[in-house]
Amino acid sequence: MLEKIKYEILRILSNSDLDLEAEHAENTLEWVLKINPRASLALQIAALGHDIERSRQDRYRSEDFADHSEYKRLHSEKGAEMLGELLREFKLEEDVIKEIQELVRLHEVGGSEVADVLRDADSISFFDNNLDFYIGYKGLEGAKKQVEYKFSRCSERAKDYIKNLDSYKRFLGKMLLN
Ligand SMILES: [Fe+2]
Repeated sequence: MLEKIKYEILRILSNSDLDLEAEHAENTLEWVLKINPRASLALQIAALGHDIERSRQDRYRSEDFADHSEYKRLHSEKGAEMLGELLREFKLEEDVIKEIQELVRLHEVGGSEVADVLRDADSISFFDNNLDFYIGYKGLEGAKKQVEYKFSRCSERAKDYIKNLDSYKRFLGKMLLN
């Protein structure tokens, strides 16, 4: 079941106009399993699908919002709705779907023990999977804002992982030279 759902989510994400979305989904799942090797099926699916909203042609774009938290709220709510629709096609149990949708709604902010694992894994994956690309895309100043946001929202556990990543060390080196 998980393999079929995973394949479909990754296929959908590969349609995003943003690069590395499918890679980020898989990498977020890897970090979830590193933080909690016994992560539930719901948490694993939420990790894969949390950014499914970015596969839409008219996806929400942060630059269109003065209020960043409003952008994040809409991105999360739409993603929960889209993932719910997809999972109903797979005939997943409704209470598991509801659990997954709640995790997707909370993936930017956390708020429960399980949602905090997803928020942390998403943050770590930004550094592990996306940061080098993001610097090329938004420039060092643009990346700095995102780095501060992703770093400040996560737990001490996640910060320890991030501090040990080569991509994070490279970023700090570039900031020093700037
Ligand atoms: Fe994400």
